Amino acid sequence: MAKIQHVCQVVSNEKFCPKFYRLCFAAEPIRRKVRPGQFVHIRAGEGLEPFLRRPFSVSRLPAGGHGAKKHVEILYEAVGPGTRILASKKKGDVLDVLGPLGTPFRMPPQGIKQVVMIAGGIGAAPFFMLSDALKGKGYNLILLYGGRSRGHVFNMREFKRQGCKVYTATDDGSVGVRGRVSVLFDKIKTAPAATFLYACGPRPMIASVQVFARRHNIGGQVSCEETMACGLGACLGCSVLTASGYKTVCCDGPVFDIDEVEIPLP
Ligand SMILES: Cc1cc2nc3c(=O)[nH]c(=O)nc-3n(C[C@H](O)[C@H](O)[C@H](O)COP(=O)(O)OP(=O)(O)OC[C@H]3O[C@@H](n4cnc5c(N)ncnc54)[C@H](O)[C@@H]3O)c2cc1C
Ligand code: FES
Repeated sequence: MAKIQHVCQVVSNEKFCPKFYRLCFAAEPIRRKVRPGQFVHIRAGEGLEPFLRRPFSVSRLPAGGHGAKKHVEILYEAVGPGTRILASKKKGDVLDVLGPLGTPFRMPPQGIKQVVMIAGGIGAAPFFMLSDALKGKGYNLILLYGGRSRGHVFNMREFKRQGCKVYTATDDGSVGVRGRVSVLFDKIKTAPAATFLYACGPRPMIASVQVFARRHNIGGQVSCEETMACGLGACLGCSVLTASGYKTVCCDGPVFDIDEVEIPLP
C-alpha cells in the first residue's frame, strides 16, 4: 500500500482575509499525487486534544522557485479547537498529515463551454486548484462566491488571473449583492448540454444547487462536507445516503455527481 502518512514542515501560515487563513506545508509526495477536490486529514494538536484529525481540501499547489515545487496549501477558517490550533502554527512547526484522500473532481464532459464553480465561504478552497486545472482549455469559467459578510470575502485576483468571471454575494450585502449565493444563479447560462457545475459549501447551499441543476437539467459535481473520524473508509462515520445506498464521504466522496447524493439538511 502506498504511504499516505507524512510528517510535513509548515512553510507559512498567514491570514488570507479577516476570517480565513492560508497554510502552506512541504509535502512533495502529496503534491505529486493530489488532484483537485481531494483532501488531507491533519492531526492538529500534538497530544490527545483534539483526538480526531481534521479534513481540509487541498486548495492550491503554489508555483514558484525550486522549494515551492514541494509545497501544498490549504485554506481554512478557525471555527473550533482544531482549526484554532492550526492558526497558531508557525514556520518550521511539524504537521502529521494523511493524504491525498478521497475522490477528485472529474473534468467537464466533451462539448461543455461554460464551467461554473459555486462556493459558499471556505467552500471556495478546492476551486483554486480546480481553476488552475481548467484554465486555458477554452471554457468560459465563472465563480459564484457567497460569504457571510465582508470578513469572509477575499481578494479574487487569483481566480481572475485564471480568466474566471467572479460574482460575489454576502448575507449582509457588505460586498457584492445581498443574499445567499443562489441570488447569483441568474449569471449561469442555462444551456444544459454546454454547462457544467461544481459546488462546494454548506449543505443548504449544495441543496439549492441541486434544485437549480435539476430544474435546468444541468450536470455537475458537488463536494460534501461531513464530520469525519478515520478518513479512510473504516469507521463509516461519514456515510451519506446516495442513489445507490450509503457511501462514505471520505473514500467514495467527498466529490459526488450532483444527482447522486441526498444532502441531509441540518
Ligand atoms: C472533505 C472535507 C473538506 C474540508 N475542507 C475544508 C477546508 O478546505 N477548509 C476549512 O476551513 N474547512 C474544511 N472542512 C471543514 C473542516 O474539516 C472543519 O471546519 C474542521 O474539522 C473544524 O474543526 P475544529 O476542531 O476547528 O472545529 P469543531 O469544534 O470540530 O467544529 C466547529 C464547528 O464546525 C462544524 N463542523 C466541524 N466539522 C465540519 C464539517 N466537516 N462540515 C461541516 N461542519 C463542520 C461543527 O459542527 C461545529 O459547529 C472540510 C471538511 C471536509 C469533510
Ligand atoms: S471518516 Fe471513517 S469512514 Fe469516513
